[in-house]
Amino acid sequence: MSELNNIASKILEKGKGILAADESTGTMSKRLDSVNVPSTPENRLLFRETLFSASSMTECIGGVILYDETIKQNSSQKNKIPELISKMGAAPGIKVDTGAKVLAGSPNEKITEGLDGLRERLKDYYKLGAKFTKWRGVYTITKNYPSKLSIHANAHALARYSALVQECNMVPIVEPEVLMDGEHSAKECYEKTSEVIQKCFEELILHKVDLKGIILKPNMILPGNQSKEKISNDEVAKLTLACLKDSVPSEVPGIAFLSGGQSEIEATENLNLINKYNDTNFTMSYSYGRALQQSALKFWSKDLQNIEGTQKVFNHRAKMNTLAARGKWSKDLEI
Ligand code: 13P
Repeated sequence: MSELNNIASKILEKGKGILAADESTGTMSKRLDSVNVPSTPENRLLFRETLFSASSMTECIGGVILYDETIKQNSSQKNKIPELISKMGAAPGIKVDTGAKVLAGSPNEKITEGLDGLRERLKDYYKLGAKFTKWRGVYTITKNYPSKLSIHANAHALARYSALVQECNMVPIVEPEVLMDGEHSAKECYEKTSEVIQKCFEELILHKVDLKGIILKPNMILPGNQSKEKISNDEVAKLTLACLKDSVPSEVPGIAFLSGGQSEIEATENLNLINKYNDTNFTMSYSYGRALQQSALKFWSKDLQNIEGTQKVFNHRAKMNTLAARGKWSKDLEI
């Protein structure tokens, strides 16, 4: 087993998943504003350190994606944050893209930037302890989008990023996110997601990326959040599996879904059904941001010093998702 394959497999072993705590300062400020907590570096660290030192980190979380600010911060015990995460038994990771900007040639769409100087930044992150990285491409579904241009340009960037990350001995998370925003049907989501993922693999192969040493982070197949169509969780799971079976090469060791605006329970329930019906060799787990942190953030905002109580809320969500990653979750386990 190659070193990268080993890291990727270990992050997702035995139902473990990834905590996506890599919100940019802008996004994190919005999250903190929503619960009336001032967005200071100290508060951002306090919330994140509270999660990173929770007991479920050892049992349930195989990797944590950090933002540039956090990977350089010290914990209250004066450890570097990546050291704290490793000590808890998880792998530290880092978001390395610099965000989605207007795509020249198709100004209603986005292209993710951050390739300039990436090789040097990766070396620094590696020295800080990062074992894996993340880059997110975003695509919106409307009548004319995503365009061939955005599908191609984002796949190309994801492949160039992945090749550089592997060159630096880290595992790239490849995240092509087809957004839930919009009026589209589940069928349209299926078709566009398939096209996006297939293009990504075409480019990854062209750029000689070792597919055994990546983790794919896709969206689930859902109707748009403005759509009148409602489909069952069973259908979400079956469509998601069919899409990935068709589009993902068998060498890929792991798939870790984003939650993308689903509620916490919805994200857990869908992951559970995906695993119940999983007839592939892919490990199917989670790399959730909002669906792991929402309740914990709300709870914490009422008393920033209630570390234990906040950890209890986070531990519950992490446990539920780890059960779901093994197809062993049921609604009556929710409190
Ligand atoms: P959500 O689970 O909140 O969609 O976040 C995951 C993520 O990392 C998006 O890039």
